[in-house]
Amino acid sequence: MSFLALDGLVKRYDGTAAVDGVSLALERGEMLALLGPSGSGKTTTLRLLAGFEIPDAGRVVVDGEDVTRTEPVARRFGMVFQHYALFPHLDVSENVAFGLESLGVRGEELGRRVAQALALVDLAGYERRRIAQLSGGQQQRVALARALAPEPRVLLLDEPLSNLDPTLRERTRREIRDLIRRVGITTVLVTHEQDEAFELGDRVAVLRQGRLEQVGAPDDLYASPANLFVGGFVGRGSTLPVTVLGTVERGVRVRIDEVEWDLERASAQPAPPPGPATMLVRPEALRLAQAGPGALPATVTGRRFVGPSALFTVLAESGSLIEVVAPPRAVKIGERVGVMPSRRAGGGIHLFPPESR
Ligand SMILES: Nc1ncnc2c1ncn2[C@@H]1O[C@H](COP(=O)(O)OP(=O)(O)O)[C@@H](O)[C@H]1O
Ligand SMILES: [Mg+2]
Repeated sequence: MSFLALDGLVKRYDGTAAVDGVSLALERGEMLALLGPSGSGKTTTLRLLAGFEIPDAGRVVVDGEDVTRTEPVARRFGMVFQHYALFPHLDVSENVAFGLESLGVRGEELGRRVAQALALVDLAGYERRRIAQLSGGQQQRVALARALAPEPRVLLLDEPLSNLDPTLRERTRREIRDLIRRVGITTVLVTHEQDEAFELGDRVAVLRQGRLEQVGAPDDLYASPANLFVGGFVGRGSTLPVTVLGTVERGVRVRIDEVEWDLERASAQPAPPPGPATMLVRPEALRLAQAGPGALPATVTGRRFVGPSALFTVLAESGSLIEVVAPPRAVKIGERVGVMPSRRAGGGIHLFPPESR
């Protein structure tokens, strides 16, 4: 049985569902990333878990106990929010002590557990520092120490890194990941950043307009997106209108503009029926070639360096913008090129029904 279950959760505000039938099950010690654009219901889901909101329907069950209507404190969940909500007038150890004191921990025991929590987040020796004297990353670690000190059953994180600048964010992300793995606590992390969800989540749940679109390991979501929304949200890709002509050996033949491509189908989805379809293609699933038979004629319009390769943008004659990965000096801006599926493109090209969104 799962350790933490969200079972058909619904939460409406003024008749509109912010969370619309969300069911999820986490194993003990699992880290789940809840990923979705702004307004998709991530925070509301977390507030239902924490007990700050009571659902209109559905249940929250932890370790076999139905806590749907249990007071937040009695759930014994730890929380860290986007805005650290640390007390600026208290020092580091007083901040960490706060949650423990409200549980009645006093005296020596209190001191011992504060020290333990600070050691856990690598802030031993910072006890007497003022919050304002700490960097954003350190403040977020204090918030984590405060959440973890009472030894909660579940840890809830709502966009904990979004206030940090990009370099600090990556480092803090790794620190948080290592820390949570070490503690082994069951965790739900909310984020609108795909990178963050993929690096931190054992599994990622993609939310759109209060509904779960897909739940899976990061590589599964990337390789087999359930629909165009998930495919476009996790990872880069270009969306092109195509016509499916029919199946060929180990794949499917499509027409894109005036060109025909035979695509190997690696994804588990059934072959789309002949007719119009929407193709999502990852930049690494394409290559740049000479204009010629089987190559989609296009003009290079942009280049962005990404490490040892570059991400080129090319404009097809039909007006589609397509992203292709190639060596940085492969082509020049303005050059006429042909676009082909790369030899092992199968996992990076997905066909969806034209009405898929
Ligand atoms: N307290 C509230 N009252 C009314 N509407 C709310 C309230 N909280 C959230 N909503 C609405 O519910 C939807 C989901 O919000 P939220 O859970 O905050 O999304 P996310 O965290 O994914 O950005 C939004 O449309 C938001 O405006
Ligand atoms: Mg939110």
